Order: sequence, then structure tokens, then C-alpha cells
Amino acid sequence: MNNRLCAMFGIEAPIFAFSHCRDVVVEVSRAGGLGVLGMARAHPDRVEEDLRWIDAHIGGRPYGVDILMPAKYEDVAEVDIDALPPEHVAFVQQLLDEAGVPRLPPDQADRAARELLAGFHMTPRESLRMLEVCLRHPIKLIVNALGSPPRDLVERAHALDIKVGALVGQVAHARKHRDVGCDLVVAVGTEAAGHTGEIGSMVLWPRIVDAVAPLPVLGGGGVGRGRQLAAALALGCEGAWCGSIWLKTVQSELTPEIRAKLLAAGERDAVLTRTVTGKSCRTLRNAFSAAYDAPGAPEPLPAPLQNMLWWAHGRTRVERARAEPFLTYPVGQLVGDMNADSSVRQVVQDMLLELAETKERLDAMLD
Ligand SMILES: Cc1cc2nc3c(=O)[nH]c(=O)nc-3n(C[C@H](O)[C@H](O)[C@H](O)COP(=O)(O)O)c2cc1C
Repeated sequence: MNNRLCAMFGIEAPIFAFSHCRDVVVEVSRAGGLGVLGMARAHPDRVEEDLRWIDAHIGGRPYGVDILMPAKYEDVAEVDIDALPPEHVAFVQQLLDEAGVPRLPPDQADRAARELLAGFHMTPRESLRMLEVCLRHPIKLIVNALGSPPRDLVERAHALDIKVGALVGQVAHARKHRDVGCDLVVAVGTEAAGHTGEIGSMVLWPRIVDAVAPLPVLGGGGVGRGRQLAAALALGCEGAWCGSIWLKTVQSELTPEIRAKLLAAGERDAVLTRTVTGKSCRTLRNAFSAAYDAPGAPEPLPAPLQNMLWWAHGRTRVERARAEPFLTYPVGQLVGDMNADSSVRQVVQDMLLELAETKERLDAMLD
């Protein structure tokens, strides 16, 4: 393929892959797309290790990073886990008790909670530390996940010949991204995994394309095959931003239990819920998200407290007991179309083949 984004990054196909897994990032870039490593919640030391590994394995192909630089968040470092509201803690404990998930001995539970939360890196200060690490590597793209990146960050990146993009789910926010100097905008429809808005890709993408023209736009949310890539291009996007589809590949980070659950799930199992992070997040339906729909359940806490609540009082218990009904992972509505294992290279090849077939079909129809 050949368009502005291919030229901007020296890639063969404008398929941008979000993944928390370094193997996926490397494989996508080696297959001709551009892998973007998500680093929410990663420790800066871990980021350094992953980027070194990527540099050693990616064969000089371009890649990027995705950071969570929230405009407004409680500073987690200053939130003590003992300060989580007791009625919310009791709700989680009772839920797990009733489901027969064994409690941990109190000292172990406390240690596990504090260890997990020590690895919870989501403050703007921590994002900046991670960014410093990234800037020492040959990254070609920085994508900001929550809101517009600060203008000085954009200028710093540009001075290092790094492009900057930002995710968006609403037209009004897209213009802010353009105004701070972003080189591209990622329009993410509600179908997507993770934090997402309410507007579907089909309606959102062309609106954002028009709003930020002439900036290039990537269409995200529901792109996992060639016909969906063709749709994004037809609606004015110049490439696709894909996250969920990589989860079905053998390179992905999933445990066998979650992989099995994902491959068996249908579209309606990818629910939009505030129970994971406190913000609207699309994730695999599970007993924890369902419990908050029941009458009398509390409202989820604001971000990042809801996340901390689960990490401190649910996660370790569930993982130790391998309590399948509570297992979840961010995934988009695409999950209904993800029924068998594949490899990253195969996904990219299938996508391009189906794109070419779609073009032929349309050409024949339009002639
Ligand atoms: C497992 C998983 C975790 C995600 N975590 C993040 C994240 O930390 N930051 C972010 O910007 N987007 C995150 N996303 C969302 C992707 O960036 C992307 O917007 C989305 O996956 C695109 O829609 P799709 O899932 O339909 O392909 C995540 C996606 C997945 C599948």
C-alpha cells in the first residue's frame, strides 16, 4: 500500500497495532505494519527492558509507544489502600465469599495487595518517567491515550523526529489534538476494547476525518479483518488502529484460561462497564462486572480507585483460586469474530488479502 502514513513511517501497510505485548509489537512491524507498545501500569524498569528487547528483535522496523497521560486523575501515590471506602471493600469481599473464592490469610492478603499496588503506575508523574525512558530508544510514534498530549511534549518529540498521535472518541476533542500539534488522530469507536466512548466507528470516523482535515486519521474500534480495514479507508481514514484482534494470536500475552474464554465469547460478551477502572471500559463480561448490575450494588468508584479496589481486594484471591467466572480482559465487540488461534503475520496477511478482494468486488460493482 502507499499513502501518507506509509510514507510518514516507512511502512508497507497502514495497520497500527496496539498491544501490551512486546512480541506482538515486533511481529506487526516485521509484517509491514507498525506495532505500538502500551505501557499503562508498567514500571519504568520494565519499559526499559521491553524496549531493549524490541530494539534487538525488530530488525530496524519502526515502532511506537502508547502512554496514559490523563488530564485529571487522583494521584495514586497519595491514596492509601486503607482509605478505600469500607462499604466497597465489603461488597467485593462478600461477592467473592458467596462465590466460594477462598480468602487469603490476613497477612498474606495485605502483603499481596500492597505489592500489587506498588506496581500500579498511572499518575502523570509516572507517565513522564516512562516517557523519558522511551525517548532514549528509536521510537517513531508516541500515542497519548487519555486526552491531548501537552504541547511541550509534542515539541520535544518533533525535535527528535518522533510523530505524535492521540486517541479520541468525540469530535470536539479531536480538534484539541490538532491544535496542540498532533501529527495524526486515532478515532476510536465504541466497539473498541478498553476505554471508549459511546459513538460507533461508522458514524465517528468520517466526522473526525472532516473535523481535523488535513491531518491523517486512523480508524479504531472493530477493525480485525480486511473488509473492516476497507470500511475505515472508505470512510476517509488513512489507516487502522487495531487492538483486540492480536489477542487471538499465539504471540499475545493471554493466559490459556483467558484465551479459552475469549475464543468462546460472542459480541455481546464485550461489555462497557465502569467496574474495571472507574471509567467506561469495554471488557469481557464476568461475575464482577455483572455484580454491579444487581439491585442494591454500589456505584463503581471514580478512577483510579475502582481499579485499586479490585487489585487490593479481588485480584489475588481470584488468581490464586483460578476462579474462572471472575476472569476478564479488555476486549472489543470483535471478540465474536475471534474463534480460533492465529499468528500476527497471518492476521496481517489475511487482512490485506481481504482488503484486495473487497477492492476487486467494489471495482466490479462501480464500473
Ligand atoms: C487488552 C487491551 C488493552 C488495552 N489497553 C489500552 C491502554 O492501556 N491504552 C490505550 O490507549 N488503549 C488501550 N486499548 C485500546 C486500544 O488502544 C484500541 O483503541 C482498541 O483496541 C481498538 O479497538 P479494537 O479493540 O476493536 O481493535 C487496549 C486494548 C486491548 C485489546
